[in-house]
Amino acid sequence: KSSVAKAAAKKLGFLYVDTGALYRAIALYLLEQGIDPADGPAVAAALPGIKIGLEDTPQGQGVFCNGKDVSGRIRTPEVSMATSTVAAIPAVRAFLLGLQRELAQKHDVLMDGRDIGTVVLPQAQLKIFLTASPEERARRRAAQLKRAGQPVDYSQVLADIRQRDQQDSTREIAPLKPADNAILLDNSSLTRDESVAKIVDLVRQQRDAALA
Ligand code: DC
Repeated sequence: KSSVAKAAAKKLGFLYVDTGALYRAIALYLLEQGIDPADGPAVAAALPGIKIGLEDTPQGQGVFCNGKDVSGRIRTPEVSMATSTVAAIPAVRAFLLGLQRELAQKHDVLMDGRDIGTVVLPQAQLKIFLTASPEERARRRAAQLKRAGQPVDYSQVLADIRQRDQQDSTREIAPLKPADNAILLDNSSLTRDESVAKIVDLVRQQRDAALA
């Protein structure tokens, strides 16, 4: 999902904002500080000490936490699990809401995240709900982990995806669901390039319609 979104943003000349990476950076910080990601009050108390930003690096856009590039370390299965827990804490969502809106105000953005159309940017000019089957997503994630040189167990990756989907779509705060006016795009049987082309097309159509 994020590689498709990133490529579409590049073609359009928009700033790409991977909001999952922002939540991941918070989870990583908490794990490193020995703070339990499920301990709401402790997590809320830690937030003022966290400064997160997106910066260009020679390797492309990087996620920074308190001045350190954490882009590589936020992609482990351990951080993924902790992130899902942390993302259910209202104080964390409020903390990142301001940052996300600020980015959208300052730039033309392609913002990628579960609650962007519903909560963060309800007035977005175009909303796309990009989805694929859990099996296809597990296959893609496993290939991604393999490329990154990390150990891969397909059935574990699939089980993690199902568990996170369940956790993310049933949580009370900002659950994973399409905005009413979102365009549904299931890319299970599309290649990465086809998905990018489809999204770029949708943006151009929307622009043309707005100008007409
Ligand atoms: O997209 P991702 O796998 O990097 O997201 C990591 C976690 O962050 C995922 O469990 C849900 C959470 N998240 C969220 O709650 N809201 C967002 N806008 C983005 C991510």
